[in-house]
Amino acid sequence: MTLAPEVDPRTDNPDDPDRLIDERRPGYCLDAPFYLSEEFFRRDIDAVFASTWIFAAAAAEVPEPGDFVTIDIGNYSVIIIRDDDENIRAHHNVCRHRGARLLSEANGSVGNIVCSYHQWTYSPEGDLMSAGVQAPGFDRTCFSLRSVNVRVVAGLVFICLAQNPPEDFAEVAERIAPYIEPHALDKTKVAAQVDLIEHSNWKLVMENNRECYHCEAGHPELTCTFFPTYGYAPEEIPKRLKPAYQRYLDAEERLRVNSERNNLPTQLIAELSGRATGFRIERAALDGKGESYTMDGGAASAKLLGDLDTPELGRLSMHTQPNAWFHFMGDHAVTFSLVPLGPDRTLVRSTWLVHEDAVEGVDYDVENLTTVWVKTNEQDAALCAKAHRGISSPAYVPGPYAPTESDLEEFCTWYIERLQAHRAQNGTGGQSR
Ligand code: FES
Ligand SMILES: [Fe+2]
Repeated sequence: MTLAPEVDPRTDNPDDPDRLIDERRPGYCLDAPFYLSEEFFRRDIDAVFASTWIFAAAAAEVPEPGDFVTIDIGNYSVIIIRDDDENIRAHHNVCRHRGARLLSEANGSVGNIVCSYHQWTYSPEGDLMSAGVQAPGFDRTCFSLRSVNVRVVAGLVFICLAQNPPEDFAEVAERIAPYIEPHALDKTKVAAQVDLIEHSNWKLVMENNRECYHCEAGHPELTCTFFPTYGYAPEEIPKRLKPAYQRYLDAEERLRVNSERNNLPTQLIAELSGRATGFRIERAALDGKGESYTMDGGAASAKLLGDLDTPELGRLSMHTQPNAWFHFMGDHAVTFSLVPLGPDRTLVRSTWLVHEDAVEGVDYDVENLTTVWVKTNEQDAALCAKAHRGISSPAYVPGPYAPTESDLEEFCTWYIERLQAHRAQNGTGGQSR
């Protein structure tokens, strides 16, 4: 009797997710199913968004006890709330009685968290305070809200849905905090917040954010201050960008002097792959007046952050995998976070923070403060939607990243590492539940 040869099922199906993960071609964009399929969307939620530390909000978004924001990730919903001791907590937004969603609003303020179904009532700390009439022996202390891991780093709130969150976050927090702390985010307030729903996969949004190859043609407002030489090695700067590069070198020298005087670390740290908590941080010069993301580069808020003695401090830019990027200037900060809503829809939230004592109309003007990034985000959304549409064509084949797109390669490497790590822990398909 002859036995039929064993067939590796993956070789039969070129779109098999495990095969696509393991055979990802370095240096090239991802295959179409990574961006388009429900299967990869499910894996992205499980292996990435429910397994790594994600940026959820600025602490300034919940300034007073009882202030909360909610964030929905796949089928999860999380409440981030400041408790009566001013600590920031994170709870699953699920009632311990029969599971109802507790808070439906994106943000707000409560005394206690009251379930609208049968009025079980929880303190901001998550303790069950009252539950009506219950059977003898009912123990309220057994029905606190289920907590979510939360860490506040220099005024930025990160959460992790995993039972065992990546341990390297503590080290990352220790390394990034000295860069951010001089901007005193704990003494800021929200001046503006804009939500944008982009019609593209979340990875296209992140990839787009990691390169400025498209900036020259795509971002007239941003390139008033953002040097379009970002990502180029000095010897690769195209001739047309040489004048901008010279301005960049001059501005970097002024930035060095101002940063040293203000004891600000500036050195680039880029560890975007090879670890669970990938991140990149550096302080770099801005063009124009070199102070802020405005049309002329001048400060948008007259009240500087922290004890900084000049607005001419360029941009402290940080990126944290998988879902956030930040710019901290002398006069304000902007946080950007994304949440995938589906394979082809992504929520991008931008939040502008100014000194808590800055007065709108006196110290800052919201339009002047927000114009550059509102326009830039809209332009990026259009570009990402075009990319998503193009990738949806059966004719799409992944193309190569340019040298200025090396951060995208790092992002994809990190992403594949996360899918593989999750699969190794949870078995084929990476299904954790
Ligand atoms: S489901 Fe919340 S009180 Fe019943
Ligand atoms: Fe862009």
